[in-house]
Amino acid sequence: MMSPEETGEYLSSLVRSTPFGIVAFESTGEISILNEMAREYLEIEAGLETLTGKQVLDCIAHIQELRTPLKACIKKGNTSFDIEALWINDHCYSTKCRPILNGFLITLENITGIKENEANSIQSIFESQEKERRKIGRDIHDSVGSLLSSVRLSLDAFLDDLSLCKEAVPTLKIEEAISNIDSIAAELRTLSHHLVPRILDEYGLSSAFENMVRNLSKLKKQDVKFYSNFEKERRFSKEIELNIFRCGEELLNNALKYAEAKEIMVQLIKHEHSLVLTVEDDGKGFVKETINPENFGIGLTNIETRVRLLGGEFILDSHEGKGTIATIELNVDPG
Ligand SMILES: Nc1ncnc2c1ncn2[C@@H]1O[C@H](COP(=O)(O)OP(=O)(O)O)[C@@H](O)[C@H]1O
Ligand SMILES: [Mg+2]
Repeated sequence: MMSPEETGEYLSSLVRSTPFGIVAFESTGEISILNEMAREYLEIEAGLETLTGKQVLDCIAHIQELRTPLKACIKKGNTSFDIEALWINDHCYSTKCRPILNGFLITLENITGIKENEANSIQSIFESQEKERRKIGRDIHDSVGSLLSSVRLSLDAFLDDLSLCKEAVPTLKIEEAISNIDSIAAELRTLSHHLVPRILDEYGLSSAFENMVRNLSKLKKQDVKFYSNFEKERRFSKEIELNIFRCGEELLNNALKYAEAKEIMVQLIKHEHSLVLTVEDDGKGFVKETINPENFGIGLTNIETRVRLLGGEFILDSHEGKGTIATIELNVDPG
């Protein structure tokens, strides 16, 4: 049987050596226990020995994401919360807060490694998807596209031959076929541009967006306005160009497909330290949470993932009946 002193020593050694950051505080907000790992994870500068009795909110004042739910615990007596991924600078912690006798206990588990591995595998999925798209795009352009042009040429020649016939031959069906072939060729061209963003590789974002907006609005027969505030020659990193282009394509396709909008506007704005893409429509809008998960596509989820991998921000502001504004903000080098 341990004496009370031994039990105390035993408990504090548990708190010291557990592989989690631990913060226990009373319902008034006063810290009762905070271990070294929590001090390190939460980037608290004050020494460990000075923290007992301090207000937990003062010690974590620099971590906004933790402040708000902690305030709710102390002020409103909320009992628990989870933050699946709390990012503090380059580190990520799975954070849980639970009620204990007279107060609350926060545990912080360092999941930076897991998040980095996850990011790497998602990154390589996107890369192989990109390779595959380019391969299919090239095949469509080179083989199907050129086969189609040769069929069209043969039909043209056939029409010419028919015009030499002495008797009048009805040619309407052939003309119809030629016009259908032209439509298919136009759709294939758009599809192949979509799969292989050649203009993006060669001329950069502004030209690629201009071209994409023009092609998609022609295909869907809806006017789309595009505006960018930087010169055409301005290049960004390959990673930023490709990802923001793919996101723009998806957002514009969504607006054209679902919004039933009168006006759609795409803007690409370069600020000193950031690049901001907005795709805005005045259509029917939607509430993300109310979409039946079975109908929920991967488009918006993919955008969220791409933007998160680039350390940017994706905000979807949509109201039923009032349209949608999707904004993506990425940090870029000044200049
Ligand atoms: N601009 C928009 N206007 C109205 N509804 C939209 C808009 N963008 C997306 N949605 C809704 O959100 C859903 C999910 O979109 P997304 O993740 O891109 O998947 P998908 O396009 O494959 O359905 C769409 O099915 C649609 O109901
Ligand atoms: Mg979509």
